[in-house]
Amino acid sequence: MSNFFSETVTSVRHWTDTLFSFSTTRTPAFRFISGQFTMIGLKVEGRPLLRAYSMCSANHEERLEFFSIKVQNGPLTSRLQHLAQGDTLLVGKKPVGTLIQDNLLPGATLYLLGTGTGLAPFAAIIKDPDTYDRYEKIVLVHGCREVAELGYGEQTVTQVLADEFLGELATEKLLYYPTVTREEFRNTGRITTLLETAKLQKDLGLKPLNRETDRVMLCGSPAMLQDLHQFLKDSGFEEGNHSEPGHFVIEKAFVEK
Ligand code: A2P
Repeated sequence: MSNFFSETVTSVRHWTDTLFSFSTTRTPAFRFISGQFTMIGLKVEGRPLLRAYSMCSANHEERLEFFSIKVQNGPLTSRLQHLAQGDTLLVGKKPVGTLIQDNLLPGATLYLLGTGTGLAPFAAIIKDPDTYDRYEKIVLVHGCREVAELGYGEQTVTQVLADEFLGELATEKLLYYPTVTREEFRNTGRITTLLETAKLQKDLGLKPLNRETDRVMLCGSPAMLQDLHQFLKDSGFEEGNHSEPGHFVIEKAFVEK
């Protein structure tokens, strides 16, 4: 039996020279938890060429959605960026990942901190009604170099706020904080700096980070993860995993080498 589902591409959108998103059909038997990732790819010269990608779609959605960088010499993304409607995408049958609610202790505020394509798992999590059942506030922070790179996240948040079923709850509970580091914008600065100075909380009218009430999910580049991991540990937060829930969980954004 194959390890992959063969899905059909239903739409593709290019956001910048380096970022695009795409949707595919979803075989109903493909079950996952919002926030997880799986191997996806293309058949190249008869063999599957695969990389890990987080699902941006929530577990209840009919389509699968992915958010990707384009690396000109990257074995997979140099090909994937030319995907068009009707193409076939291989989707691994075994989703995995640590950015799931059961790896966190109960809390009141959930911080989703992502840079670049590290937004992807959080796109799924903010579309999942379970997130709103568990928390009073959900704070989505997306850090990018330039404003254009925020586009996919902005669109996702707009859709959630307008959603027929989730919109009202999301309007009450979801706080979205896009920030850029290399251009003028209404919010600027790295996520690390925004947390260290508590500017994030001041801007959003929240209390400073507190391990009694706050839970954190991190997804981004290795440097960002390392710095935020250290910051959280210094703040008394403990990392959770599948065997023991904690105050925060980490996943690297899957950047193709
Ligand atoms: P900066 O422009 O100051 O490097 P990248 O595209 O390199 O992955 O970066 C995405 C975003 O993450 C950028 O805004 C970048 O800021 C920021 N960033 C890079 N390294 C770190 C880090 N160690 N901690 C927090 N943010 C970071």
